[in-house]
Amino acid sequence: MRKRFACSKCSHIFPQWYGRCPSCDEYGSIKEYQDTEKSNKSYVSIIKRPIDDINIDNQKRIGTGAKPIDIVFGGGIVPGSLILIAGAPGVGKSTMLLQMAKSIAKLGKVIYFSAEESLGQIKLRANRLKIVEKNLFISDSRDTDAIASNIANDKPTIVIIDSIQTVSSRNIAGITGSVNQLRYSTDKFLEVAKGNNIPIVIVGHITKGGLIAGPKLLEHMVDTVLLVEEAGEYKLLRAIKNRFGAIDQTAIMQMTGNGLAVLENPEGIFLGDKINASGIVRSITIKGSQPLAVEIESLVSPYGIGKSRAIGFDVNRAIMLSAIIEKQLNLKISEHDTYLNVTGGVNIDEIGVDLAVCAAVISSMKNKPLNLNYAFIGEVGLAGEIRPVQSIERRVIAASRLGFTDLLVPNINITSDIAIHKIRFLNDLISYI
Ligand code: TYD
Ligand code: MG
Repeated sequence: MRKRFACSKCSHIFPQWYGRCPSCDEYGSIKEYQDTEKSNKSYVSIIKRPIDDINIDNQKRIGTGAKPIDIVFGGGIVPGSLILIAGAPGVGKSTMLLQMAKSIAKLGKVIYFSAEESLGQIKLRANRLKIVEKNLFISDSRDTDAIASNIANDKPTIVIIDSIQTVSSRNIAGITGSVNQLRYSTDKFLEVAKGNNIPIVIVGHITKGGLIAGPKLLEHMVDTVLLVEEAGEYKLLRAIKNRFGAIDQTAIMQMTGNGLAVLENPEGIFLGDKINASGIVRSITIKGSQPLAVEIESLVSPYGIGKSRAIGFDVNRAIMLSAIIEKQLNLKISEHDTYLNVTGGVNIDEIGVDLAVCAAVISSMKNKPLNLNYAFIGEVGLAGEIRPVQSIERRVIAASRLGFTDLLVPNINITSDIAIHKIRFLNDLISYI
């Protein structure tokens, strides 16, 4: 065993301790862990099998009880896979997993290791979720080795470990939740999952800002990483890594008095009442493969020193778009402070709403309200050209279903039952504002 140091933010490994991570500049994130020195000196025979002999009949996926969640998993849970569910404390991870456990218990034995909450607390939650399942077992063991050997012995259909930060092994130095313990426990569960073809779901807490503090180190060890995020009153579940499916799938859930409800048609949930005010625009964004109608608001303040703020959108991109508007339309935006907000707490991380952001800024600057029956879709290039965006067909279908009357889109070939206006350059936008 030798001493190593790892950054819990960026996962870089160092031979010595630093107060500030040399790789990502985070303060106080370097933690010590023990690395086992591996020797490759002697020959050990390894069993190798012809690829044709490998039987994957037992790879039938397990349904979670909610179709949108199955889709996020890539079509259900793969037996033998190790899954990390990451999210901020209180976002609903335990609730979601207990509901999933309830569904899977109809197919076979489920063991829920609750290292975080007492059996009484789990029972209260189970009552709220109206769970009566003979095949659902709960344990409050916090001992990684005991849990691992019990899984191998009991051979359940699925196992949930809530959370990886609260289980530990006596065989390893370091307190519960330390880098050492996290890595050891994850490795142990990986071995049991693969060795017995049992899927294991581990919960990992991340900070409110979305930083996978400890669990960042675990991302590369697991097969699948699902992130639970908050968007106003809704929860978004999406895959950020998946060895068994696409990572672009998102399920949207809502917390109710008795558990999480998975929304079947969530595309319009973030639209508010139509308000006749300048600076408000509607667009269709894409979350994974899910189209979502969003409202983007801009306020170009009459005063200011050219400061920019953005919530739910990349502020640097907002500044770039303002500069393009300034150059192409000769509007002096840089003399004002500008604010951008995506309503409903939605975080947009794609460029398909550029045209909408520009429309919102121009509308606020000119103090002219926009027609909220129109949806603006398109990327804006530095020369002011409007470029095609991914999943345009899906966005157009969603816009039509949501009752939009008109669509402003780049110059693309598309047919729809709603009016299509092709916008080639930013200048073309002016006749709509
Ligand atoms: P929880 O699943 O405990 O979050 P996590 O495991 O991610 O920390 O859920 C957190 C919140 O959900 C908690 O504040 C209580 C609330 N809740 C409901 O509103 N309805 C319910 O039916 C349940 C079980 C929880
Ligand atoms: Mg919990």
